[in-house]
Amino acid sequence: MGASLLRDESITMFFAGHETTARTMTATWAALAANQEVAARLHEELDSVLGDREPTVDDLKRLPYTLQVVKEVLRLWPAAPFYVRDAVEPVDLLGTHLEPGTPVMLAPYWTHRHPDFWDHPERFDPDRFARGAEAARHPQAYHPFATGERVCIGNHFSLLESHLLVATLGRRCSPRLAPGHRPAWAMEGTLSPVGGMPMLIERRG
Ligand code: HEM
Repeated sequence: MGASLLRDESITMFFAGHETTARTMTATWAALAANQEVAARLHEELDSVLGDREPTVDDLKRLPYTLQVVKEVLRLWPAAPFYVRDAVEPVDLLGTHLEPGTPVMLAPYWTHRHPDFWDHPERFDPDRFARGAEAARHPQAYHPFATGERVCIGNHFSLLESHLLVATLGRRCSPRLAPGHRPAWAMEGTLSPVGGMPMLIERRG
């Protein structure tokens, strides 16, 4: 691998592979702190399935609500809030004519909050991802990992990693927002918390 390819690969791994999942975790702890009923249901699932031991990958299939929490976090705070695709042939899109090569910005952040696809889109509700609920939706209503040929290559890995992280840390800790802090997000390369996310971590059990 030459120097420039090595540089490109390193940037991809840190930016695409690390920062996205890290931001997703930040949003998860903030969402749980702000939605105590969801946090209570999550803790109930973790306590009943794991008791006082650490989760393994084998446990994940018995922790469906934990994954629903991750998916709902990626709906409201998609770490990659937008991406760009080029038209490959002439197309008329909502009254606008696009020539081949025209870049089009697609924004999961907006699709995921569009009232045509989501009831009460601003509400944090992991039950939107309960078994069967996803089949009833438009297939493109949810695209935190993009779609098509250039879909995120780390899609499944990232969900597995996040599922395991929420199970491991959620079992042990109960996060609270630092007094006076109101979470705010900025659309940068990734969806970034403005001023960080100061939190207090309470140990459970
Ligand atoms: C929550 C976590 C993640 C989110 C929300 C996410 C989202 C996305 C999105 C939307 C794209 C398409 C970007 C574009 O076409 O401009 C993408 C591409 C990509 N992602 Fe992820 N990603 C995540 C985690 C990961 C992880 C963990 C890895 C690697 C281990 C990874 C590696 C990549 C790579 C290499 C691409 C480029 C694929 C290509 O163009 O063929 N991502 N990701």
